[in-house]
Amino acid sequence: MTLLDGKSLAMNVEQKIIAQTDYLKTQGIIPKLAVILVGEDPASCTYVNMKIKACERCKIDYIDKKLSQNITQTELLDIIAKLNKDKDIDGILVQLPLPEHIDTKVILEAIDPQKDVDGFHPFNVGKLFAGLEAFAPATPMGVMSLLQHYNIDVRGKNVVIIGASNIVGKPLFSLMLNAGATVSICHALSRDIGFFSRTSDIICVGVGKPGLIQADMVKEGSIVIDIGINRLKDGRLVGDVDFENVSKKSGFITPVPGGVGPMTIVSLLQNTLFAAKMRKIKKTF
Ligand code: GUN
Repeated sequence: MTLLDGKSLAMNVEQKIIAQTDYLKTQGIIPKLAVILVGEDPASCTYVNMKIKACERCKIDYIDKKLSQNITQTELLDIIAKLNKDKDIDGILVQLPLPEHIDTKVILEAIDPQKDVDGFHPFNVGKLFAGLEAFAPATPMGVMSLLQHYNIDVRGKNVVIIGASNIVGKPLFSLMLNAGATVSICHALSRDIGFFSRTSDIICVGVGKPGLIQADMVKEGSIVIDIGINRLKDGRLVGDVDFENVSKKSGFITPVPGGVGPMTIVSLLQNTLFAAKMRKIKKTF
């Protein structure tokens, strides 16, 4: 079994990003990301702080907008409109989930697609689905980079994605299909996940259920990508895979933590860098 070490790969990618931000600086361009957090959800605060620290390490400038839980939708739209117009801002990220009184769809559609480094705007979702150049969401992008780094060619492979969210499952479906995989997607109404996982070469799971994938659900030598992050009562952080037993059967497996998580963060930085490069050459999608 080979461990897919996202932590060390992410550190290597960060070094490459730093080299590029250094070069861009000599050309008068400093990549800049606006990070918007509404409210004080502890998990969202942790993720946002990790993204900001990564920007600091990679010399990417940022605006950190921590907004009240009670901000109105109109006020939030005003902030986004100003950031859309700001010529120094390359990327805009609105951390999800948003409070219930705010319509997430309206907010995501208000972000300029050229600054949509999360890849959540329908413009980028559609382009990605069509196999055109677009911003891809960070988590699925991180999964693809991890597989590529370990020379795992997905062409012709049977892939099952468990979890059909707009943030992870659906864009991962697009990336896998565009890369030549045969892709199935399971979700809350799927009847027999094991039927799909046992016949798959690659299993990607991210639903937030510890121990969902057990050893009897994977075939010998399979590639297991755990996108879940769950905090157990004893404080331990685990994914959705029974790592101890599944790792004995799999060919490759991601640990949690240290697998997909760090790759998600660097993928966001890669998108921000890409947006800054497009600004420099005045290119649009
Ligand atoms: N909430 C959970 N994952 C993400 C993400 O990748 N981006 C944003 N903006 N919010 C999230």
